[in-house]
Amino acid sequence: MIVTIDGPAGSGKSSTAAAVAGRLGFRHLDSGAFYRALTWAVLAAGIPTEHWHSLTTAQLDALNVRGEPAGSGYRLFAADQDITGLIRSVEVNANVSPVAALPAVRVWLLDRLRSAALGVDLVTDGRDMGTVVFPGAEQKFYLVADAAVRARRRLLERGEAAHDPERLQSEIGRIEARDRIDSTRAVAPLRRPADAIDLDTTNLTFDQQVGVIVAHVMEWRRVHG
Ligand code: CDP
Repeated sequence: MIVTIDGPAGSGKSSTAAAVAGRLGFRHLDSGAFYRALTWAVLAAGIPTEHWHSLTTAQLDALNVRGEPAGSGYRLFAADQDITGLIRSVEVNANVSPVAALPAVRVWLLDRLRSAALGVDLVTDGRDMGTVVFPGAEQKFYLVADAAVRARRRLLERGEAAHDPERLQSEIGRIEARDRIDSTRAVAPLRRPADAIDLDTTNLTFDQQVGVIVAHVMEWRRVHG
């Protein structure tokens, strides 16, 4: 069974998907982590921004970015280095949407993401998991939340003062900029899958949003066997 969770930046997809997978005994595939890992490797290789649009499959291959199953999720590697802990930096945040908008990058990752679903029950989250990567997924969710709430969660996640109005405002700006790039790009833009269940997490606690999705999946399994 494949469950997809898509939505804009900071809507809580990844942490929700991880908890849902844990509760159901599914594997968790955080597709954003793969885009982040590739972005980290592109930056670490010192490839200048003006060359990104002409990146070839061979150049992407040479970065040797891959995910290795670990626990119920994946650890991300670039060559021999485990970069799982390095891919949520401010620098990667600022560059991941432009990298993810490159058609060559999306083609390169598509098969890799799909092959992660072979032979396992999967909860996966991202921007296009229900629309492009797994259009036939059994259950699809679309998470949204107010930009201010998403910005506050991001600041708290990074241990920064969420009550400082200036910081909050600039985080809202960064989140909205990323949403804009993600939803207006030519290839696989962020879009609500037509058959998705909507979940607005603005006023939900983390446990509530996890609970709602788990309940839907369990009901689906009860009905479909
Ligand atoms: O956690 P957050 O919502 O901030 O982002 P993420 O899920 O880690 O994804 C980081 C970036 O990767 C997004 O802003 C998108 O540009 C890109 N992405 C994508 O294009 N397609 C996906 N399926 C997942 C992520």
